[in-house]
Amino acid sequence: MNAPAAGPLNRIDLIARYREVRDQTEHLCAPLATDDYQIQSVLETSPPKWHLAHVSWFFETFLLAPQVPDYRPFHPRFEYLFNSYYESVGSRHPRAQRGLISRPTVEDVYRYRQHVDDAMLALMHSVPDARWDATAFLATLGLHHEQQHQELLLMDIKHNFAANPLRPAYQRAPSNVSTAVAERLRWIERGGGICEIGHEGSGFAFDNETPRHTVLLRDHALASRPVTNGEYLQFMASGGYGDARYWLADGWAILREKGWEAPLYWEQRDGEWWHMTLNGLRPLNTAEPVCHVSFYEADAYARWAGKRLPLEEELETMLAAEPLEGNFVESGLLHPRPAAAGDGQWYGDVWEWTRSAYSPYPRFVPLAGSLGEYNGKFMANQMVLRGGCCVTPRSHMRESYRNFFYPHDRWPFTGIRLAADR
Ligand SMILES: [Fe+2]
Repeated sequence: MNAPAAGPLNRIDLIARYREVRDQTEHLCAPLATDDYQIQSVLETSPPKWHLAHVSWFFETFLLAPQVPDYRPFHPRFEYLFNSYYESVGSRHPRAQRGLISRPTVEDVYRYRQHVDDAMLALMHSVPDARWDATAFLATLGLHHEQQHQELLLMDIKHNFAANPLRPAYQRAPSNVSTAVAERLRWIERGGGICEIGHEGSGFAFDNETPRHTVLLRDHALASRPVTNGEYLQFMASGGYGDARYWLADGWAILREKGWEAPLYWEQRDGEWWHMTLNGLRPLNTAEPVCHVSFYEADAYARWAGKRLPLEEELETMLAAEPLEGNFVESGLLHPRPAAAGDGQWYGDVWEWTRSAYSPYPRFVPLAGSLGEYNGKFMANQMVLRGGCCVTPRSHMRESYRNFFYPHDRWPFTGIRLAADR
C-alpha cells in the first residue's frame, strides 16, 4: 500500500489511542437526549446515531472483516445501513433517508460500538508483528476518520438544534468565554520564491496531502487574524449582499435563490443580531471571527475589502512556521473566540477558506483498494480550507491538512482570512 506511515506504530500507544478516541466520541454525545440522536435536519447532515454507527462500520469493513478470519459482523445488514459513499464496498442506504432509521435503536448502536471495540482490541493485541504495520496504518486511519466524524457530529448537532424554534443549547456556556476586543488587523509581508508543501515523514497524513512537492509563491501579505463579526457587519451594512459586483456568478445565483442576507445561524431580534451557537442563541460578539460563511461570501467579502482569499500554499507555509496551538475542541468553548494580542489564530477557531480548488497534488496516488475512495474521488468542484476550527481535535490537525467543502457550504465552522498581492 502506498500509504504514509501510521504515526504511533507502537502497540501499547496505539491501543491507548484507540480507547481515547472512541471514548471521546461517546463523551461528545453525553449531553444528548435519546431523541436528539435521530435528527437529520438537512441532506448534508447525519443523525448523531448514524455517525456513531458509521465510524464503527469503518473498522468492521476495512480491518475486522478482512483481517479476522472468524469475525462475525454485529448485524449482516449494517454494511448496507452505515456505508457512507464506498461504491466498491456495495450498495447503501440513501443519504437523505438516514434520519428515518429508528431501528437499530440508540442502545443497539452503543452495543454495536462495544462489539467492534472488543474485536478491535483483540486484533491489536494479537496481530503478528509481521502484519503490524499494515494493521496499525488502517487502525490509525480509522481513528482519524472517527475524529473527522467527531467534528461532523458537533457541526450536525448545531444544525439540528438551530432548526428547532426553541434554539436548545448543546452545552451551557463555559465560564471562560472571552470578552476581549479583537486585536487590530495587521499585514504580514511575505516574500515569494520556490517552497515545498505537502506531507512527508513518519507521522500520519491522509493521501490527499501527498506527495510533498515544490510550489512557486509570489510576494504577498496575509492578514494577522481572521475577519471579525464586526468587520463583516460593515460589509452587510454597506449593501454587500445586494451588490452583484462583489459576487461570483454561482454565488450571486445561490444568494438570490436562498435569500442569504447574513451568515448562517444569524438572526435579528428587536433590531439586534443574535446567532445560534452550541451554547444556544447568543448576542453576536463583534470581536469574534465571523463563522458559518460560504466560500462565495468569503470571496465577496474579500473583493469588497479590496483584497483576496489566500492560496492553500500561502497558508500551509505560514502554518508550518507556527506552533500547533489554538482554540480546538479541547478548550470546551466549541465556538470561535476573539483574537488575543499577538495571536494570529492560524490554527483553530475557524476553518479558513482558500481560493485553491481541491485537486490532486502533482503525482498524487490515492490509497489502494476501496480506501482510494476516501479522498480522491471528491477532487472536483470543492475548495480547500486550512487550519482547523473550534470543534476540531488538536491531535487531528497538522500544517499539511487539506479540508474541503463545496463553495456553498455554510454549516462547517468556516471563516475568512484576507490576503493581498504585493
Ligand atoms: Fe466517514
